[in-house]
Amino acid sequence: MKILAILYKGGNAATSEPRLLGTVENQLGIRKWLESQGHEYIVSESKEGPDSDFQKHIVDAEILITTPFHPGYLTGDLIAKAKNLKLCVTAGVGSDHIDLNTAVKHGIQVLEVSGSNVVSVAEHVVMSILLLVRNFVPAHEMIERGDWMVSDIARNAFDLEGKVVGTIGAGRIGYRVLQRLLPFDCKELIYYDYAPLPEAAGKAVNARRVEDLKDFVSQCDVVTVNCPLHEGTLGLVNADLLKHFKKGAWLVNTARGAICDKDAVAAALASGHLNGYAGDVWNVQPAPKDHILRTAKNTLGGGNGMVPHYSGTTLDAQARYASGTKSIIENYLSGKAQEPQNIIVGIGKYESKAYGQR
Ligand code: NAI
Repeated sequence: MKILAILYKGGNAATSEPRLLGTVENQLGIRKWLESQGHEYIVSESKEGPDSDFQKHIVDAEILITTPFHPGYLTGDLIAKAKNLKLCVTAGVGSDHIDLNTAVKHGIQVLEVSGSNVVSVAEHVVMSILLLVRNFVPAHEMIERGDWMVSDIARNAFDLEGKVVGTIGAGRIGYRVLQRLLPFDCKELIYYDYAPLPEAAGKAVNARRVEDLKDFVSQCDVVTVNCPLHEGTLGLVNADLLKHFKKGAWLVNTARGAICDKDAVAAALASGHLNGYAGDVWNVQPAPKDHILRTAKNTLGGGNGMVPHYSGTTLDAQARYASGTKSIIENYLSGKAQEPQNIIVGIGKYESKAYGQR
């Protein structure tokens, strides 16, 4: 059986750090295991265009492993060419880089390692909220430059205490963000999700649900995006919705880049309507050198907390999603039932409700 993995290149870091399991070099740690059973395992970072390893090998691979950190975009056209493909495994969480509707039609299963990096992302969200609200990035840049002007930083630095923080999506990550924010004594924690939290869970984090999105954002000092990317969330945070944000609000997006309209976000920063934008996800990955969100700033020269897509790929997370990927493949090869929470698309139907199937 041919198994194809599209992973990110780890370079020197991966040769000297074997725990960087999700890289082309370390191959999720499953090469020996797969080859000992006679399978062919192709691992590559080459994913764009007709000459890429992705397009070359997808035609006869039975299992495709991809990662959201270096997404191999499995479009409907590629699925049509992938005559042997039965199983797509996302080494991580978030399978929007696969055309899920077409996978349903072709009876291709899509599984991810649910929960494997949700704490990793939730911690990154809390860090990003703090670094924006406290104006950390320009303060650190000032230090590196050799300057020292406290007032230039303090004029736009605030406490998180007493602010209203809201999450779009209160699933595994969104809920963990709320849990981690509790000790900061925010004025209120609120959420927008078409699935209400179970009563006890909502009470435990003292979070109030707001059913209308415009109403929701108009109440938030900080908005954090924690829902999957699907037809219903593509461009959800656009120029129209941004008008309803409080002036001077902060926006954190570690969910998927395309949920926020990059040009509308940059314009809102430039006009001062948004005070900051942070996150690790981009509408195209790797982000081009001149991507507007690499350098977009607020009117005081700060408010940018963007980093490459890494919040869910800490070494701790990599250990979890590498072992989860192996379990999914092991189940597939031995005909054992998959863990229900990992199944996004089962044979011929969606199993998860998170991608807009309500
Ligand atoms: P989850 O499935 O546990 O929760 C998602 C929540 O979003 C669900 O409660 C669902 O009802 C809600 N939702 C779906 N559509 C919505 C909409 N239109 N409006 C409001 N809520 C909506 O997923 P989990 O584990 O919390 O992950 C969420 C997303 O975070 C993933 O799909 C992925 O895109 C992203 N992610 C990012 C990572 C990173 O490294 N930056 C790593 C892991 C996940």
